[in-house]
Amino acid sequence: MNNVIEMSHPLIKHKISLLRDKNTGTNEFRKLIEEIGILMGYEALRDLPLEDVEVETPIETCMTPMISGKKLAIVPILRAGLGMVNGILALVPSAKVGHIGLYRDEETHEPHEYYCKLPDPIDQRLIVVLDPMLATGGSAIAAIDFIKAHGGKSIKFMSIIAAPEGVERLAKAHPDVQIYCGNIDRQLNKDAYICPGLGDAGDRIFGTI
Ligand code: URA
Repeated sequence: MNNVIEMSHPLIKHKISLLRDKNTGTNEFRKLIEEIGILMGYEALRDLPLEDVEVETPIETCMTPMISGKKLAIVPILRAGLGMVNGILALVPSAKVGHIGLYRDEETHEPHEYYCKLPDPIDQRLIVVLDPMLATGGSAIAAIDFIKAHGGKSIKFMSIIAAPEGVERLAKAHPDVQIYCGNIDRQLNKDAYICPGLGDAGDRIFGTI
């Protein structure tokens, strides 16, 4: 799967271990999710195109590189994806933020969109979809399907912890989407939780355990 990148930076690995600890409280958990968002965002945005612009320093005028090309849209999948937004905004404060909310049909288990608001013009933006947990891949695939249906073309996906099953499904369903994972864990359990994982990310971010 050449559209999947697993992070190797020791700071990311260290902070993920702190997140896993069941004794890590809500406040620290939120801070860690945001910090990992910054570190992963730094890695995921390393291919942003640059163009030379003219800048006058106190010494002389020079040509110096600045980010060019597509504007950024951050799209968290509700609700756990919200925890990573401020991390990316710390890197790119001018990014626009869309939102996607999905619920799972009790009978068919298919994800359905209940909320989708994306910044215009979505087809001309680099879109970074956020969900800290990539479990079965169902929500990520559906969210990216919806973004493409709304015109999105250039998409990256970021998750902090992923299950191999979800990574494989997402990579096959959307081979044009670059997938960044902080860590690829062992497996899903029968309740579709990632093992060893960190439990329910949304509950731990919002303190609703
Ligand atoms: N979502 C979570 O928050 N945790 C999991 O382990 C799987 C999906």
